[in-house]
Amino acid sequence: MRIRAARPDDLPILQGIENATGEPFRDIGMIEIADDAPPSLEVLEEHRRDGRAWVAVDDSDTPVAYLISEVVDDTEHIAQVSVHPAVARRGIGRDLIDHLSEHARATGLPALTLTTFTEVPWNAPYYARLGFRVIEDDELTPGLTKIRAREAEFGLDRWPRTVMRLDLTPAPAHRAPAPQTGHGVTLR
Ligand SMILES: CC(C)(COP(=O)(O)OP(=O)(O)OC[C@H]1O[C@@H](n2cnc3c(N)ncnc32)[C@H](O)[C@@H]1OP(=O)(O)O)[C@@H](O)C(=O)NCCC(=O)NCCS
Repeated sequence: MRIRAARPDDLPILQGIENATGEPFRDIGMIEIADDAPPSLEVLEEHRRDGRAWVAVDDSDTPVAYLISEVVDDTEHIAQVSVHPAVARRGIGRDLIDHLSEHARATGLPALTLTTFTEVPWNAPYYARLGFRVIEDDELTPGLTKIRAREAEFGLDRWPRTVMRLDLTPAPAHRAPAPQTGHGVTLR
């Protein structure tokens, strides 16, 4: 699976992936989540134009998973990560999140954040396995507080929900240039 930046013609496909990822929520009785509309093309395009929409593609360059993010209070916030159920549990979600971690490090952001359902096995417990920790209410930054308020208005708090954060280790410092000989040859 290759990860690349999303292109405009990918966006309708991402809506299809989002609809498909709703189905497992139906199986655990979260019908409203299963039936929730995917992000609009306008929202997806905003993330794409901001350079914050990535897709994992199959051999024919068709997206099978995607991740969109935004900067919230100086952290890279995952707005959505979705993997088509047909290719779930093959490490694609983890690879997309790793990719975002690299992007965040490269842009100098110290952490990833997200909001998620506490008790859904492929939500908070999954992110905990990837190293995310729960952020308590008194640790919430203004942007995250606003996101949680919007989610509550939208009815998402019918099920326990939480905010999680992954602190990133800084990118390795650039190696000091090796000493050079008088002929411009690098000594190794
Ligand atoms: C969450 C999600 C992105 C994970 O992507 P993925 O590529 O399947 O995950 P990975 O292959 O990196 O990791 C697999 C792990 O995820 C968890 N997981 C994934 N699907 C699961 C399921 N149906 N039931 C329980 N655990 C599941 C398990 O911990 C699994 O590890 P295991 O296979 O060793 O048990 C994907 O399940 C998804 O798109 N879900 C629907 C959308 C969603 O809930 N997004 C998050 C909103 S906050």
